[in-house]
Amino acid sequence: MKKASLGFVWFLQLISSIICVLDRSQFPPSFLFGTATSSYQIEGAYLASNKSLSNWDVFTHLPDKIVDGSNADVTDNHYYLYMEDVELMDSLGVNAYRFSISWSRVLPKGRFGDVDPVGIEFYDKLIDALLNKGIQPFVTLNHYDLPQYLEDRYGSWLSFQMQEDYTHFVEVCFETFGDRVKYWSTFNEPNITVTLGYLSGSYPPNHCSDSSCISGDSEIEPYIAAHNLILAHASAVNLYRKKYQVKQGGMIGIVVDCIWYEPLRDTPTDRLAVQRALAFGVAWFLDPIIYGDYPPEVRQIVGSRLPIFSEQEKELLSNKLDFIGINHYTTLYVKDCLFSHCERLGTPPGDAFVHFTGERDGVLIGEPTPAPTFYLVPDGMEKTIMYFKERYNNTPMFITENGYAQANYLGDSVKDLLNDTKRIEYLQSYLESLKSAISQGADVRGFIIWSLLDNFEWTYGYTLRFGLYYVNWTTLERIPKLSALWYKQFLNGEKKIDQDSSHTTIRPLLSHSNVLQK
Ligand SMILES: *[C@@H]1O[C@H](CO)[C@@H](O)[C@H](O)[C@H]1NC(C)=O
Ligand SMILES: *[C@@H]1O[C@H](CO)[C@@H](O)[C@H](O)[C@H]1NC(C)=O
Ligand SMILES: *[C@@H]1O[C@H](CO)[C@@H](O)[C@H](O)[C@H]1NC(C)=O
Ligand SMILES: *[C@@H]1O[C@H](CO)[C@@H](O)[C@H](O)[C@H]1NC(C)=O
Repeated sequence: MKKASLGFVWFLQLISSIICVLDRSQFPPSFLFGTATSSYQIEGAYLASNKSLSNWDVFTHLPDKIVDGSNADVTDNHYYLYMEDVELMDSLGVNAYRFSISWSRVLPKGRFGDVDPVGIEFYDKLIDALLNKGIQPFVTLNHYDLPQYLEDRYGSWLSFQMQEDYTHFVEVCFETFGDRVKYWSTFNEPNITVTLGYLSGSYPPNHCSDSSCISGDSEIEPYIAAHNLILAHASAVNLYRKKYQVKQGGMIGIVVDCIWYEPLRDTPTDRLAVQRALAFGVAWFLDPIIYGDYPPEVRQIVGSRLPIFSEQEKELLSNKLDFIGINHYTTLYVKDCLFSHCERLGTPPGDAFVHFTGERDGVLIGEPTPAPTFYLVPDGMEKTIMYFKERYNNTPMFITENGYAQANYLGDSVKDLLNDTKRIEYLQSYLESLKSAISQGADVRGFIIWSLLDNFEWTYGYTLRFGLYYVNWTTLERIPKLSALWYKQFLNGEKKIDQDSSHTTIRPLLSHSNVLQK
């Protein structure tokens, strides 16, 4: 009797420890779990075949644009090492891979030139290799990089012509890869493209009003670029729905970045400031794409500087996505600068009239991380998702990025960088928060970690390492960090850590999308 009850206690302890461990079985079977990258950040091979220079190839070769003076001419050399990288993903046990297509590799001169068959072949082989391992390609059609040729020829996003070029590019992609790709995103983080490109000028094409830029008008150009980008999105979705979706059976959406915001003070004006900050980052793009026009929060302030959609365009725009991709990393406090004067610092677009800070009364909003202004605030994930659920009628969502950066300080040993316990804590706590949102009815269908590999982190160069795999920049060797092992355990269940990567099981997937069709 005594023995039996002891055994029972032990059994209870075992069960409770298992219950506490988060793993994929607590998410729906069709849920996508993946890792993410983008073309410019990992591919290298910047002159391969007939590829033209992208805007980022040109920008990174200008002096003083990237903190460590680096560029992505080689970076992870994924263009040549992609098979190895697919093996890494297979060994993790993911069922999705989010990557982007380099426009200048596929159409070096946009619609003014031919497709480069060598560029096409690269993505063809990558997609086939993924499907062969049961991994769904989750493709971003444009992740910041575009042919410099289109910049030089007519000013890229400042011209209405860009809609035509973009539509031509996506048609080549749907036509060529759409038999196998079931998840398309038109753009990555348009908020960043237009504010960093045309307001602060810290990204290409380096436009802003002050002398740090080659030219520009920070008051006007971000809104024009956004307008053309939104119409290009609608045109792409329209084309996909009319010509490809029924036959190919995929979904198409857009990926937005969303920092969550908390009012700095418990006042009506700071609560309004939170709404404005979100409207200027998210609703600026999603309201037109879903409801057909810019949000009132933006229209009221920007007034006549905001371009106008014609009635015809409004009709073309409405309901132009199947899912929303959300990149979420952190939460900040927001202070109102509209009703009382304050410094609109660090707040592109300044038109939101807010001040961002990570600190209230000397206390940080969460544990700081090595990425500037990124704090660990897990609840922000749930709140972000609930915001989208309410504002956009529970449109299907994917978390298309979430992850943790390590600083690549000189002197940090490889051993320390591989022991990335902070990243594991971060991911686990954000996943718990995501689970909580799902339990409240949010239609979230996937979670994709940024990033598979350490890579070129835009203006931070190689000073931040977001990868589950460490990359040695000399040898380009990929080494799993502790977080890679954690993800593998999470995906395969506590007891099934399988070092053997040679298996090719098809993992639980949406039923329409798990067959290699080519
Ligand atoms: C590359 O461009 C050159 C010059 O335009 C052309 O002759 C050649 O056929 C192209 N190569 C490929 C692989 O498309
Ligand atoms: C939009 O981008 C700017 C950076 O240009 C950033 O300050 C802002 O927080 C972003 N908005 C959201 C909602 O993420
Ligand atoms: C890894 O880091 C944790 C604390 O973050 C430490 O307790 C542990 O000893 C480290 N392991 C190794 C192998 O360095
Ligand atoms: C990269 O690999 C080389 C060769 O194994 C090694 O000598 C070097 O220390 C490594 N560098 C880093 C930063 O890991």
